[in-house]
Amino acid sequence: INPGWPATLGPLRTQGGAVALRPVKLRDAKSWSDLRIRNQNTLLPWEPTGIGSWAERHHPSAWPPLYSVLRSEAKRGTVLPFVIELDGQYIGQLTVGNIQRGAVRSAWIGYWVDAQHVGQGIATAAVALGVDHCFGPVGLHRLDATVQPANVASQAVLTKIGFRREGLLERYMDVNKRWRDHILFALTAEEVVGSAAETLVRAGRASFH
Ligand code: ACO
Repeated sequence: INPGWPATLGPLRTQGGAVALRPVKLRDAKSWSDLRIRNQNTLLPWEPTGIGSWAERHHPSAWPPLYSVLRSEAKRGTVLPFVIELDGQYIGQLTVGNIQRGAVRSAWIGYWVDAQHVGQGIATAAVALGVDHCFGPVGLHRLDATVQPANVASQAVLTKIGFRREGLLERYMDVNKRWRDHILFALTAEEVVGSAAETLVRAGRASFH
């Protein structure tokens, strides 16, 4: 019931190394916890408000229950929970959520990357791999991404892939304890020339080998 899942995608070569996507695993607890705790300052301003302290929420013991929710949603066909790997190493996550079938066939896409590896085209390559998978095997037609106006790096990622700004969602999401405005970006399948990965390769931002 979830076409295109599970899947391993890539690699796509960037300035930072080989970028690939693979499903989250139960064994990711330590990597997830270490990275999330180390990146608290860069993640907190952009992420939905959670209950409890950042350290509590990202203790290794918090991973198995989160993983099992992601796994069951993936089985039901509503989420694609990927790890972003750089040269085989866990350095972030990319999630496709709220997958809707029927006449809409849309979902949202979200991502984060370890601050030690930013600025090398890694998130852009990961999003390109995710987009091509969604518009290919998964069978979606539209992807939404919502970004706060101040998050210029994330807006740059989306723009490089061809996402368009559609409007401002006022007080859209509870992030870091406030209702925050978000810019709605979107991309539909017919806007992608060839594939999103090819768009990056043509622009000299990534290569297939
Ligand atoms: N001003 C202008 N441009 C900037 C700035 C800045 N302050 N900082 C970065 N950029 C640009 C870079 O120059 C680059 O564009 P370029 O290739 O044209 O030079 C672009 O932003 C970043 O592209 P990548 O290198 O592919 O992205 P990166 O691997 O650095 O990851 C990300 C970007 C995911 C936003 C990372 O910084 C991160 O994890 N941030 C914290 C979490 C987060 O914000 N996630 C996104 C939430 S919104 C959503 O998920 C839809």
